[in-house]
Amino acid sequence: MASYDVIVIGSGPGGYVCAIRCAQLGLKTACVEGRETLGGTCLNVGCIPSKALLHATELLHETEANFGKMGLKVLRPDVDWAQMMAYKDETIEGNTKGIEFLFKKNKIDWLKGWGTITEPGKVMVGDEVHEAKNIVVATGSEPSPLPGVEVDEKRVVTSTGALELEEIPKSMVVIGAGVIGLELGSVYNRLGAEVTVIEYLDVITPGMDPEIQKTFQRTLKKQGLKFIMGAAVQSAKAAKGKATVTYKPKKGDAEETVQADVVLLATGRRPYTEGLGLDTVGVRMNARGQVETDDHWKTNVDGIYSIGDCIDGPMLAHKAEDEGMAVAETLAGQAGHVNYNVIPGVIYTHPEVANVGFNEADLKDAGHPYKVGKFSFMGNARAKANHAADGFVKILADKETDRILGAHIIGPMAGDLIHEICVAMEFGAAAEDLARTCHAHPTYSEAVREAALACGDGPIHS
Ligand code: NAI
Repeated sequence: MASYDVIVIGSGPGGYVCAIRCAQLGLKTACVEGRETLGGTCLNVGCIPSKALLHATELLHETEANFGKMGLKVLRPDVDWAQMMAYKDETIEGNTKGIEFLFKKNKIDWLKGWGTITEPGKVMVGDEVHEAKNIVVATGSEPSPLPGVEVDEKRVVTSTGALELEEIPKSMVVIGAGVIGLELGSVYNRLGAEVTVIEYLDVITPGMDPEIQKTFQRTLKKQGLKFIMGAAVQSAKAAKGKATVTYKPKKGDAEETVQADVVLLATGRRPYTEGLGLDTVGVRMNARGQVETDDHWKTNVDGIYSIGDCIDGPMLAHKAEDEGMAVAETLAGQAGHVNYNVIPGVIYTHPEVANVGFNEADLKDAGHPYKVGKFSFMGNARAKANHAADGFVKILADKETDRILGAHIIGPMAGDLIHEICVAMEFGAAAEDLARTCHAHPTYSEAVREAALACGDGPIHS
């Protein structure tokens, strides 16, 4: 029986980062992972493979949309689907092998198999029981099923099957206009599929800034995505080489059907805690099936902690990573901390969409006096030169103090641009602080500065 300071269960972004930080802080650490490779959903069947496909298909889109305008005469690139899949698989392998290397470097034992907590301080993997002073549950999430939707991962797929399709479908129905549906819907739209998104609400990407929601949907429509809004999907079934989806519009009660080669179910994810033995050791769960934790990620059972998608909060890899580091620091006797007010969200479509902090709907609901500084990429020289001037940066700041409360970007490199604002918010900056910071010309980042200027005396280029 091996004995550790910490055993982390799950090697996704929350778990592997936690394990590495624990080891770096001098704790004898093991990480349990039952998959053949490390990295969890994110690296194996989530963020990383989807970003590879988004990157490849964005280049395809760019070639078709803008190359001619820039004097680059190329024929439409031929899509070699097998090679694109191989590129995606190599990307996964490069990243999962990288984590394996980091585990070796930091002397972390990878306990191969699925872990069960048999009693506080004991984790069984296969036939072996391992001891640990502390256990961190980082088992992530899985796609939520939808009653009536029969997933076979061939014709009716979740994000996992959508990354493994044998051929490019001619048509695809996406159930749910959330992050997964719009990212993967964009991939197949760019590859020539006719993509129809069915969404229960009247808006896409619930929770996002209302102005961004509208602009984003308009942009996606222009790219060819079709939307059926305000409709609840009742069922999806595969038969005779097709899949049929039945949905019920909120207005009117007649059911409608639509057929496609592939149906993607993307209506959310749920915590994955099966077989962990949490009930046996008495770990309390909340009504949403999440592991309940206190402000220091500790469960009600001494020595058992939990982080990432299986606890409350946004299901984002970087949120899990931050919690993983904070727990490691706590276990090493330091003060771990996560600032939940400054967790960026990014949708890797084209253009990208990014946000941090409060949105306008939140501030209106809270009755918080705020001002808006907005700047269109049309006024940004670099964006215009690159044929990437669709979109805007919007900064929300406190009306009295000018402190930045949130930011929302739709446009080129939005997922990278947002971090300047995250840093500013982490330091409690005012919009004026950003506005007074010299920004190199010509860069997309100047649009952030101009939005900050718009919170004060006004931007220069609009
Ligand atoms: P989501 O929660 O983002 O969106 C699900 C959508 O499905 C919602 O708009 C909802 O109204 C709709 N819906 C629910 N039931 C429906 C029904 N019966 N008929 C029609 N529409 C219905 O969920 P999604 O996209 O599956 O993503 C899951 C999680 O993964 C999210 O928390 C997301 O943040 C995370 N994720 C993040 C990524 C990123 O940061 N780039 C990428 C992929 C996933």
